[in-house]
Amino acid sequence: MIGTEKAIGVIGAGTMGAGIAQIAATKGHKVVVCDSNSDNLAKLKPGLEKIFSRLIEKGRMSQEESQASLERMELAEGVAACADCGLVIEAIVENVDIKQKGFRELEEAVDASAILASNTSSLPISEIAAACDKPERVVGIHFFNPAPLLPLVEIVPGLLSSREVVESAKQTIDAWGKTTVLAKDTPGFIVNRIARPFYGEALRILEEGVAEPATIDWAMKELGGFRMGPFELMDLIGNDINNKVSETVFAAFYYDPRYRPSLYQKRLVQAGLLGRKAGRGFYDYADGAQKPEAVQDESLGRAIMFRIVSMLINEAADALFWRVASPADIELAMTKGVNYPKGLLRWGDELGPANVLKEIEDLQRRFGEDRYRPSPYLRSRAENGEPLLGAAC
Ligand code: NAI
Repeated sequence: MIGTEKAIGVIGAGTMGAGIAQIAATKGHKVVVCDSNSDNLAKLKPGLEKIFSRLIEKGRMSQEESQASLERMELAEGVAACADCGLVIEAIVENVDIKQKGFRELEEAVDASAILASNTSSLPISEIAAACDKPERVVGIHFFNPAPLLPLVEIVPGLLSSREVVESAKQTIDAWGKTTVLAKDTPGFIVNRIARPFYGEALRILEEGVAEPATIDWAMKELGGFRMGPFELMDLIGNDINNKVSETVFAAFYYDPRYRPSLYQKRLVQAGLLGRKAGRGFYDYADGAQKPEAVQDESLGRAIMFRIVSMLINEAADALFWRVASPADIELAMTKGVNYPKGLLRWGDELGPANVLKEIEDLQRRFGEDRYRPSPYLRSRAENGEPLLGAAC
């Protein structure tokens, strides 16, 4: 584990880098933040001061803690400043060539024992690590946005990551008060893979003309217990970002139809209807704009909710089938990373694996598409009358 006697390096002072630097500094580490863009670097401390003053107002941080955390932060344009860091977490632009170049420079700057981590959401850790002389020191440490608030962190070993490096990364992030789960180096890791149908199936239902966004959102919140509906959430994340994740996961799975993104969402992006940040997405956020009414028809709502949740359960079962993570970590990931009301495997057991299987098979028959392919794990558990979540969990 990297104790507070060791400095933490953060490369990239954007959304994620700033959040990760905030966590490490408030946990007592000296933090070296590097960014090639001096304007972004200059914005870091004023941004954190604002966040800290709000925390002080709410009584969640003292003036002394705020000041000490800011003083523990050093800013630099080049990675040479990370020479004494025990762990460096990269959070720069999502481009494998640029990341590989950054890791090569980083490896020259740091000590032989330093751990190098990437916060990438969608690039293979093994490919980033391939740029290094010592790929065994590279690991994925994937925080969720906003990093200081969301408890989940996916720890992703590359094919060549050493066991000690993975263990040390996990212990360090646990010591920062986060909930870590171990994910295989596969597209979307755990959360961004299993969550795809939350958006994709909702979009499909919209495109089929079954219901409008307001009705689908109502069904998922009121009947499913989700904090936000899929369309509200896509508008919040940004349709450009959400669509990009869907396209990346789809391409990374060699275009498996299960992950095919939505043409409608693509059109929204092309039209500039990116969501809240653009003032309009699925909904209109202009001052005085009326939010459309949901059709609060309970049987329609239940059918929508059951279809989307069944697809999510099938995806969770499939992640288990392919050993992406343990059953316990799959449950933790979806409840702590994206705030689902309950773990999907447990939800599948409550609904009955045979009922979920029947829903997926009915969809497969109706549409004749491989998108609705039951996971072998769901099928075998349903046919043997066994629960999805083993007794040990
Ligand atoms: P961002 O665009 O807000 O920040 C990136 C920062 O990196 C910028 O300040 C930029 O100047 C700097 N940068 C770019 N190339 C650089 C280089 N070669 N050397 C040093 N600095 C460089 O990006 P964001 O959203 O913080 O994402 C960063 C990483 O985190 C990406 O890999 C992304 O996939 C991942 N991620 C993003 C999440 C999100 O919701 N935004 C969630 C989880 C992971």
